[in-house]
Amino acid sequence: MIIPVLLAGGVGSRLWPLSRELFPKQCINLVDVNESLIQQTALRTQHIGLSENPIVVCNDEHRFMIAQQMAECGTQADLILEPEGKNTAPAIALAAFQAIERDASAIMLVLPADHVIKNEQLFGEAIEKAIEQAKAGKIVTFGVQPAYPETGYGYIQAASKNEVSDVKAFKEKPDLATAESYLKEGGYYWNSGMFVFSAQTYLDELKALQPNIFNAVKAAYSGKQLDLDFIRVNAEAFAKSPADSIDYAVMEKTDKAVVVPYTGDWNDIGAWAALYDLGEKDASNNVLTGDVLTHEAKGNLIRAESRLVAAVGVDDLVIIETADAVAVMPREKAQDIKHIVNQLKDSG
Ligand code: GDD
Ligand code: MG
Repeated sequence: MIIPVLLAGGVGSRLWPLSRELFPKQCINLVDVNESLIQQTALRTQHIGLSENPIVVCNDEHRFMIAQQMAECGTQADLILEPEGKNTAPAIALAAFQAIERDASAIMLVLPADHVIKNEQLFGEAIEKAIEQAKAGKIVTFGVQPAYPETGYGYIQAASKNEVSDVKAFKEKPDLATAESYLKEGGYYWNSGMFVFSAQTYLDELKALQPNIFNAVKAAYSGKQLDLDFIRVNAEAFAKSPADSIDYAVMEKTDKAVVVPYTGDWNDIGAWAALYDLGEKDASNNVLTGDVLTHEAKGNLIRAESRLVAAVGVDDLVIIETADAVAVMPREKAQDIKHIVNQLKDSG
């Protein structure tokens, strides 16, 4: 049994003002007008032939919105609600306990709910290779050819030039000098953030490498209660888990990792600039969504949610209009919107 596990705990603060704490980026129709990112992720697993209902691990506050969006995809997902965000290592462990209840030898396909992948053929082929490895007890990563020394990704050093290779080393989010040296040296991939392994393999590794996370999550899961159809884990036990990502907690330490090269398109939509890159450009290289008019304006990403937006004589801007907030920034500084989000948090 292959179970898709969708990680949906993030908020996506660099996509403010569209993303909000109560309306996180994975729930927004960001790339497609009809489907949100999490819906596209769930549908992608169906399109490659996986019929098992997904497990979604998400924040308590988003439960109704995510449940409804999953139902719209024709899937009856199991939603595991986290009392608080503890990062991905504990989140995946919760899903692993649930997967084992469904099938002791379940294989998990762990997917961030906020990635954009258009070529489902190549995605499906890579997953197929990964499942084979996972059945043999491996922890499978997908390696993306690095294009520049990004410091926000994990790096995978392949042990061989074989199609599917053991992982020699995994380094999460290196500093710039280290990332540059990896690119110069060659033989490194970006970690795509998607993983395949059997639920049992993951739990065994977690128990060996991070017993504090394992024990806390085990207690939290065994103290779970059903609330309607939602799986609510024991908050007191979960609070005892250290917060850490699978990348630091497991991938940097395990010797069971293999890497399957992933050559399809893949985009971790971190900030507005990525949406410009992905979007369909008009004759003046603008990406326009909603009610927008332009004159002598080029290279802009403009999104109107509730009103008409008009742009004249401006280039390379991001303009995001929503009912209660408008943000304007140069495209190359779009990352810095996070400072506004921090100011809003500080002011309560
Ligand atoms: N349920 C749950 N709970 N989900 C979470 C939590 C949590 O506490 N924290 C993060 N997530 C979800 C996010 O919403 C996202 O879908 C996914 O887990 C990955 O978390 P990110 O916070 O986006 O990780 P990252 O982008 O910094 O790094 C990861 O992805 C990169 C590729 O996009 C790592 O795996 C890197 O190695 C990788 O290169
Ligand atoms: Mg990410």
